Amino acid sequence: MSDTATLEINGEKYELPLVTGTENEVAIDIKALRGASGLITLDPGYKNSGSCESGVTFLDGEKGILRYRGYSIEELAEKADFLEVTYLLIFGELPTAEELQKFHADIMDNSMVDEDVHKILDAFPKNAHPMGVLSSLTSGLIAFHPSSVNIDSSEDMYQAIVRILGKFPVLVAWVMRKKMGLPLNYGSKKLGYVENIMKMMFEQPNEDYEMNEIVKNALDKLLILHADHEQNCSTSTVRIVGSSHAGLFVSLSAGISALWGPLHGGANQAVLEMLEAIKEDGGDTKKYMAKAKDKSDPFRLMGFGHRVYKNFDPRARIIKKAADEVLGDLGVVDPILDIAKGLEQEALSDPYFVDRKLYPNVDFYSGIIYRAMGIPVEMFTVMFALGRLPGWIAQWREMRLRKEPIGRPRQLYIGETERSFKQISER
Ligand code: CMC
Repeated sequence: MSDTATLEINGEKYELPLVTGTENEVAIDIKALRGASGLITLDPGYKNSGSCESGVTFLDGEKGILRYRGYSIEELAEKADFLEVTYLLIFGELPTAEELQKFHADIMDNSMVDEDVHKILDAFPKNAHPMGVLSSLTSGLIAFHPSSVNIDSSEDMYQAIVRILGKFPVLVAWVMRKKMGLPLNYGSKKLGYVENIMKMMFEQPNEDYEMNEIVKNALDKLLILHADHEQNCSTSTVRIVGSSHAGLFVSLSAGISALWGPLHGGANQAVLEMLEAIKEDGGDTKKYMAKAKDKSDPFRLMGFGHRVYKNFDPRARIIKKAADEVLGDLGVVDPILDIAKGLEQEALSDPYFVDRKLYPNVDFYSGIIYRAMGIPVEMFTVMFALGRLPGWIAQWREMRLRKEPIGRPRQLYIGETERSFKQISER
């Protein structure tokens, strides 16, 4: 293949370099295009534009492939635990036993949250959405810790990373406990990362906490499956906020806000609400399929479709299997699992969905598992954020270490051309 692309505009030719990634994907480097031609490219929603070069996650949407740092999601979900995957995503290699032990100890040593954060949480009304509260508390942490990180010091970078990995699960647990009217608590340094998260979330004030191995394994798997997904909306947000050299905590807080939307991470809550509504309405899946296809109806089949996957989302396959196993193991019979399976079956053979390559995504079955675990619906997207945290950190770190320039897209102006100001009496 040639190493340049030629663009011809009004008889003028421009040679643009081609850049090839390690998986042989090819991109046209248009950095110099405006300087040479005065023209920009236009791509709302970045449907066809790469915003960066990244070595964290590889995704082939046509083939349904997802790999973190070269390891397949299927293998990681089966063999690794969430903390190993966290280390892998952030530092690029699987940890040795010693590295993992130190990483865990450093995170746990940083898990105390200032009591004043507790007071900030107290000031929120109980019915506040947990995603808004989590985003506020995460950016609020800068009041208690250095807001900027010296990226040239690996020690400073490491400290910032273990600090947020230590405190974030505490905030997640507190947000849920506040919602449920439970006293706020801390976990135990002696427990594993995910085990400790569970204790912090589920421990009741009047009984000893006993971990349920089935729930723990399912949570571990769900967190791994959500841990990174290359340049999605929230990750791009974290990178672009961080590109202004705003600190890690506020960049993450912006990512949490981006994740909240129902077209992104908020879909897991929207899926469960949709399945519940279908159940309440008599379980008529055909009616909702028709609504999803009707262009005059704003209803969309939540948990279906993906910007990048035009084949099965590999995470959805693993989660569907896990939903069956977890509900079976816990002895939970949830009628909405059958409604979900029915909808999937119909969609997979419906020309509307087949032609548009709309398959179930990661959010379609995850809420059913979260509900079986006893997690309130409004917390589902918070659980997604907990899983995505290592991905956001890894992408932020990569962006800063590569010394990427500030993110600042161009635009094509379509507003009024120059006109004269009119005094208010003349308008
Ligand atoms: N139900 C019905 N029709 C759909 C759906 C859906 N869930 N998703 C896409 N379409 C149709 C859409 O109407 C359009 O049809 P047409 O070509 O006739 O205009 C076509 O499929 C292409 O859709 P699009 O909106 O242009 O695709 P997109 O890449 O911009 O959007 C998406 C991707 C995920 C936002 C969209 O599929 C969607 O809204 N899905 C439901 C929400 C959801 O489940 N989001 C979670 C995404 S995965 C987890 C995450 O990354 O956060």
